[in-house]
Amino acid sequence: MQSAIQQNTFADDVQRGLSANPKFLSSKYFYDDEGSRLFQEIMKLPEYYLTRAETEIFRSQTKEIYEAFAKQGETFDLIELGAGDGTKTSLLVDYFLKQNADFKYVPIDISAEALNYLSEKFNASFPELAVQPEQGDYFRTLETFKTKTDRRKIILFLGSNIGNFSQPQAQDFFKSLRAVMNPHDALFIGFDLQKDPRTILRAYDDAQNVTAEFNLNLLRRINRELGADFDLQEFSHYAGYHPIEGAARSFLMSRQAQKVFVKALSKTFEFAAWEPIFMEISQKYNLGMIDDLAQMSGFKVVRNFFDGQNFYANSLWKPL
Ligand code: AVI
Repeated sequence: MQSAIQQNTFADDVQRGLSANPKFLSSKYFYDDEGSRLFQEIMKLPEYYLTRAETEIFRSQTKEIYEAFAKQGETFDLIELGAGDGTKTSLLVDYFLKQNADFKYVPIDISAEALNYLSEKFNASFPELAVQPEQGDYFRTLETFKTKTDRRKIILFLGSNIGNFSQPQAQDFFKSLRAVMNPHDALFIGFDLQKDPRTILRAYDDAQNVTAEFNLNLLRRINRELGADFDLQEFSHYAGYHPIEGAARSFLMSRQAQKVFVKALSKTFEFAAWEPIFMEISQKYNLGMIDDLAQMSGFKVVRNFFDGQNFYANSLWKPL
């Protein structure tokens, strides 16, 4: 039942994206099993500096982060949105436990499988930690917490995941979060910063073509789940970075004029030679943009934590 619901949404989104001009597909569908595996590979690539930069911040400034979270000795719950494999969070958790902090870890994710994996991992590494996984929609889950508990919540949204939203989408997202937070809660967000455009571009156009595969894998998923006949050889990954907007974008370019049939939609889509499909935005921020985004969505920046190269910032926000 659940997968039927998800498949309808996927089919609807593919229908909408391939009928649009310019064509687009949503990068939120990148993460099937193979896509998740490819993303793990991307995070280890020499060109993909983001994960290393955020991990460095967590490792080198654990104490400062803890103090900023636990100011005035208050208890708090650590709530993580879309927790991934939890590697970075475990660095914080380990330190917090050593400080005898009174906290619970609440990962929220749409995927039950991801939550099971994470809970097992945290239960094994930290038997003394209370882990309370919550499956479902971020906002609905947080809404129920708003009244159920008055323990302070620190909400983690890491990994530059916010970069995959356009700026208006990011603002809507934070406004919706603000609506389900209490005034004494806080948000801790990972932002990839603007830097030498060549460094950014390389991160999305790696020499081993793993990022290209990661994009092409969505066509493979459409073939498998919606009965399409995309010929992956006939699409080529292209990444660009726009320094004025601070946006890296990925496209799949149709190498020639071609038709693709999608059985689940009973529809044929036509591609002109070198027509792009817009696949993903990875927005890069500067400090002014982070301040503006906080302000416009009802927060103020309390403190930013940076890696040694100033490639990346973890930003702590409080409601205004
Ligand atoms: C998950 N997200 C923050 C990654 C990014 O950097 O935008 C996804 C990604 N796309 C290509 N490489 C990595």
